[in-house]
Parts: sequence; C-alpha cells; structure tokens
Amino acid sequence: MRKIVAYLTIVLLLGFILESCSQSEKRYKIGVSQCSEDIWRDKQNAELRMGAYLEGNVELRFAAAYDSDERQVQQIDSLVATGIDLLIVAPNQVATISPAIDRAYDKGIPVIVFERKTNSQKYTAFISADNYEMGRVMGEYIASQLHGKGRVMEIMGLEGSSPAIERNNGFMDAIKNCPSIEVVATLQGDWTEESAVKAVNGFQGDLSNIDFVFGQNDRMAIGARHALSSLHLSPSAKYCGIDGLPGKDGGIQLVRDSILDASYIYPTHGDQLIQLAIDILEGKTYKKETMMMSALVTRDNARVLLMQNEEIMRQSDYLDQLHNRADNYLEQLGTQHVIIWMALGVIILLLLTILLFYLYHRKKIAIQRERVVNTLWNLKQEDVPTIPEDSKQQEATESADTDDPSETVKENEPVAVSLFITRFKEVVESRLADSEVSVEDLAADMNLSRVQLYRKVKSITDSSPVELLRNARLNRAYQLLLTTDKSVSEVAYAVGFTSPSYFTKCFKDEYGKVPGEARTS
Ligand code: FRU
Repeated sequence: MRKIVAYLTIVLLLGFILESCSQSEKRYKIGVSQCSEDIWRDKQNAELRMGAYLEGNVELRFAAAYDSDERQVQQIDSLVATGIDLLIVAPNQVATISPAIDRAYDKGIPVIVFERKTNSQKYTAFISADNYEMGRVMGEYIASQLHGKGRVMEIMGLEGSSPAIERNNGFMDAIKNCPSIEVVATLQGDWTEESAVKAVNGFQGDLSNIDFVFGQNDRMAIGARHALSSLHLSPSAKYCGIDGLPGKDGGIQLVRDSILDASYIYPTHGDQLIQLAIDILEGKTYKKETMMMSALVTRDNARVLLMQNEEIMRQSDYLDQLHNRADNYLEQLGTQHVIIWMALGVIILLLLTILLFYLYHRKKIAIQRERVVNTLWNLKQEDVPTIPEDSKQQEATESADTDDPSETVKENEPVAVSLFITRFKEVVESRLADSEVSVEDLAADMNLSRVQLYRKVKSITDSSPVELLRNARLNRAYQLLLTTDKSVSEVAYAVGFTSPSYFTKCFKDEYGKVPGEARTS
C-alpha cells in the first residue's frame, strides 16, 4: 500500500515538474497604446503581431484611443495596471498624453514612444520617420511640378500632434523658397478623410484654380479631392499625401491609378519596434533615437513598389496563417494536457478508492473472524452447545476423507465453524500440560491429518494450530497466576513449558509484562 502511494506521488510530482519546466521561459507583456484606428495602424499592429510571433515569448496587449486624449490616458493607466513589462505608445497629441506616459515611466516601465512625440523627456526610446523631412520633400516636389509657380493648399493633421506640426514646418520651409507659389490656405484636419472634406467645404476663401493640394496624409488628400472636385472650381488640381501604404486603396495604388499625384511612405515597421522592445527588455544596447528611412512615391515607382509590397504581404499573410495554425495546435495541446491531467486524477482517485475499499474489506473480514474465534474460544465449556457424538464423528470423518486444499471451513458455515472450534478447544485444553504434544497429536485427536488440521485452523482463525496451542497455554498460565499460589516455574510446567525462562519471555511477548507483574497488577 505504502509503495503504491509513494509511486503515485512520484509520478504526480514528476508531471508537475515537467509541466512547470515547460512553462518556465520568461514571457514579456508589452502594452501597445495606439492613438487611432485606421489602415495605417492596422498594418502596424499586424507587423507588431508578426514580430511577436517571431520572438515567441511576447504577449501583446493592444489599446486604440480613436483620437481621444482622454481615452488614451485612461488606456495607458489601465495597461500599466495589468502589469505590462514595457509600453509602446503613439501619443495622440504632444502635451496631453505626457502625464500618463510619465506615470508609467516613473513606475519603472520602459517606454518606447513611436511616430508621434511628447513634450516630456521620460521615455526610454523614440522611433519614427522624419516628419519634417517628409513635409519638406513634398513641398519641393510640388514646387518642381509647378515649376515654381502656382496656387497650393495644405490640409493639416490633428492639431497638437507632432507629425502635423513637423510636416507643416518642412512643407512651409520648402515653399518659402518659391515666391511665386501662393499658399492659398492651410486648413485644419484631424488625419481623417471626413475632416478634410469638412475643412474644404468650410473654407470661406478663394478655392478657384488650385493647382496642388498637399494633404498631410493620403486619407485627407482623398477627402480634399472629393470636396474640391464637387465644387468644380479647380478642375486641374493635383493631390498628394503621405503614408504611401501598399494594398487596396493604399497610397501607392492611388498614385499608380493617378488618383493621387504623389505620396510619401510613412514606414510602419512594427517588427522593428518589437525588436527594439526586446533589446530594451533583455538589457542589450539600443539606440535611444531611431530615424526610419522613407521614400517618395510617384507614378514612376508606384507600380514596382506595389509589386514588391504585394509579395511581402503575401509572405506575411502566409506566415500569419502558419502562426494561426500553430496557435490552434497549441490550444488543442493545452486542452489535451488538461484532459490528460484530469483523467490521471480520476484514475488515481479510482485506484485509491479501490485500494481503500479492499483494505477496509480485508480488515472487516479479519475482525469478523477474530470475533467468531474469540467468542468460541472463550466460551466456558458449559456454554458451548452440546454437540451430538455422531455429528462430531461425522464431521471428523468427512474432514478426514479428503485432503483437498480447497476444503477449508467456509466463513459462511457458522455451525461447522462452531463445532470445529469447540472440538479443537477441547483437544487443546486436554493437552495443555503436555510439553511433548505435537500438531500431529492434536490432529490425531481430531481424526484429521496434520495438513488438514493446519488448513482448517488457519482458514478459520488465520493462526496456525501451534500458535493457538501456545496462546491457550499462556492464557491458562495467566489464569493460574491469578487464581493459585503456584510459583512462576510451577505455572510454566503446568501449562506445558519445559523452560521457565522461555515461558517468561513468551508471556512478556504476549502480555507486555513478566508473569510476576501479572500477579501483582
Ligand atoms: C495614422 C496616421 C497616419 C499619419 C500618422 C500621423 O493613424 O493618421 O495617416 O501619417 O498617423 O501620426
């Protein structure tokens, strides 16, 4: 029993150790706080996920603030409260999000600010493309397309966001070198297409004969195009924006299809962000400020760029599918693990129940048997039901007839048991004083062979005839010590022991005290 329990415990312990070892790799929880939700952010989030897949030990927690400062502040606080190891954040505006970022940083959480700036120095690393440069290149491009002369309009991104400020600065710096270019209007948008439509429609100035519209992103360039086209005031206006996304309705395709005249790739590079995050978390060296490379998209390169990007997207879709499949397998494996552990638990419980039941049953039988034997053995001669001579004879003869080992007295034959024990007790007591008596003698007195006697006695009492004889001797000795003045040696001889010292030893083994003590206690 003990062996089985020990074995089961070892199996369980090994299982738990293996299980915990397999889960021991350090996993990083990275919070990603996005200021908006749009196709540019979607692409970046997909890349972040891909980067996390490749790292294998990164768990990403995303939050999108839908251009609301308040919501982004709340989301950053909640991400921090969930126990993230690092925060990646694109702050909606320069000033408004800084307090939340500072709080995270002050708690010791590394912070990567990407693409939009804050006015605080509390960040671990900053990564972006050069927004000033983009605005400047776009200004120069437009100026060159217009040969230094024409009417242009700019639609700005969300007020107070760093790319809007920097793109505008770059654009204006380029345009100011061309005195014949008139900036008809700098309208305020908020990075959405609708905001540009609204801004154009709400403009009170002269919208006729506009040559070029610079939307600070492609979505706003498209919004301005819709609004201006429906006014029919600037039929030959051209439009350019920033973002240059690949894929359907992305800036590159819009340039290829001549809906936009130019765009500028605003790199998303989520995979690079993850790499930077891991370097920071693992204490490796990293650059505090990273400027990502970017490029102008025009009709000359749009087709090639699109082809290349489509290929990259196909590959990453493929990777994504593979990862999803791997995720599914892992999930199934996890479920199987749980099922296996539960099944193991049930089996162990079942085995323990069976074991306990078996032990309980054995104990019960042993107690019942002991009770029967004790009752019968301790009955006074006059209490024992008188057994007709012929049944004694018949029983003895029947027993003597067979030497079949299966012929033991069955538990459910109480009368037979009673007769047999009574008889055996008589025989034993009549031979108590005889130190020479053997099991053969006892068997002969019972008209049985030695083997038969042994089997019967053993099956009823679970003791051998010799043990019972010895118990009867000691029992009688105890009575004599209590009821007579006989010395210990005399008692020993009277109950068939030939050596008083051996008698004393046996007596002590049986009753836990020497014969002298039995008399005095
Ligand atoms: C995406 C976006 C881009 C833009 C950038 C500015 O959310 O609006 O279109 O270039 O953010 O931060």
